[in-house]
Amino acid sequence: MTSADPTTDPQKLPNRMTPFSEAFKEFIPQGWADYPPAPAPLPASAWTEARRAKLRELFPGEALVLPAGPYRVRSNDCDYRFRPHSAFAHLSGLGTDLEPDAVLVIGPDDTVLYFHPRVPRTDPEFYTSSRYGEMWVGTRPSLDEMAALTQLDCRPIEALKADLARVGAPPLRVLRDADPAVTALVDVLRDGPAEDKDRELAVAVSEMRLVKDAFEVAQMEAAVAATKVGFDAVIADLPEAVRRGRGERWVEGIFGLHARHLGNAVGYDTIAAGGDHANTLHWIRNDGDLKPGDLLLLDAGVEVDTLYTADVTRTLPVGGRFSPAQREVYLAVLEAQQAGIDAARPGATHKDIHQAAIRVVARHLEEWGCLPVSAEEAVGEDGGQFRRWMVHGTSHHLGIDVHDCAQARNEHYREGTLEPGMIVTVEPGIYFKATDELAPERFRGIGVRIEDDVLITESGNRLLTAAFPRDPDAVEAWIAAVQGA
Ligand code: GLY
Ligand code: MN
Ligand code: MN
Repeated sequence: MTSADPTTDPQKLPNRMTPFSEAFKEFIPQGWADYPPAPAPLPASAWTEARRAKLRELFPGEALVLPAGPYRVRSNDCDYRFRPHSAFAHLSGLGTDLEPDAVLVIGPDDTVLYFHPRVPRTDPEFYTSSRYGEMWVGTRPSLDEMAALTQLDCRPIEALKADLARVGAPPLRVLRDADPAVTALVDVLRDGPAEDKDRELAVAVSEMRLVKDAFEVAQMEAAVAATKVGFDAVIADLPEAVRRGRGERWVEGIFGLHARHLGNAVGYDTIAAGGDHANTLHWIRNDGDLKPGDLLLLDAGVEVDTLYTADVTRTLPVGGRFSPAQREVYLAVLEAQQAGIDAARPGATHKDIHQAAIRVVARHLEEWGCLPVSAEEAVGEDGGQFRRWMVHGTSHHLGIDVHDCAQARNEHYREGTLEPGMIVTVEPGIYFKATDELAPERFRGIGVRIEDDVLITESGNRLLTAAFPRDPDAVEAWIAAVQGA
């Protein structure tokens, strides 16, 4: 397979690329070492066949088209680092930045991974293609190497169309949101969109991740352990973050350093919110100062190379000690969180976690004189007033996506029954904006969230994030220990 030669095609000559001479073209393929031997199988590849078999059972006799997705443009010809679609990663085992433009096709009898394999060094793509060329993006796998890595049959992406269109090919479904070009191809091949059928596929690949296998649990444990390293590093550097100014940025950077070092990346944009910024739920601007008397709400998680991510929040006194008012709010949130964790058991509904936590939140808000109605009314269906101080949910599924299984149907998610192997967060908070005139004055500008990752077990649950202190005294002791005070 050869690509068009951009040096002879004026349409493809970028305005920054000098044309290559014939002498260069003759010279460039020479004098390179052989490629290394085929890689060992990915550890995930021991688990992916069972996952694919489970999906196949839901759609017998059909071909399921699951693209990795293309690069996404950041600006002009600069792309974001590639991250495959989560369903593709789950079913192929490919994580990190593997493999843009690839497509996994799970057929009734076989699975094929289509991708753009390495070309010979005699191909101009070797030195001209900023998307696939070895000189630009490094050595890419051959078909055999990818087969060794994934334990899948691999074919060049150019064969995809003909394979899907061949006589007697099974009916198609496609994951529509992954790669517009592949979605368009499938729609042409089956004479138009079949959005309802595709929606069923999107739901299925989401719901099949609700219960994690043992490999996934181990990956989550690794993500949590790496996240703990990141939190420790942030705590160690809090005095420096205060001293430098723009301390929220410093905190984000320190955590990001460890996320990139120990894992693939952060699993979501870090929230590093000092003082009143904690009351902005999606505070990812992180451009404020940190002050010794303030709290730092740090919501951050490391995504490991297989793309599983932790999702942890700790609200830390920047100066090492909670003030009485901060401690009062913190203890209320901690009590709510413990109620939520206690409710996270097999057989309970997902909603039970939320109800358990918000009952505690509402009771404290009532005691503090914030609510215009009783706590009981506030948590009732016609109430909801407590949401002024905790507008978000208490819990979500966690895994390859921070908000995992997002396409799962309500009856399997919010109303669904918790089962052993599910991993959920428990993350209540109480947020008193500085501008909130209904908040007790001593609480204004204080925002607290505590978030842990919980594995549902046969007998109850296991706190995957148990190594992160939660009790306020333990948090203060943690800060003192890490800072060597
Ligand atoms: N960090 C996102 C969340 O807690 O849901
Ligand atoms: Mn969360
Ligand atoms: Mn979070």
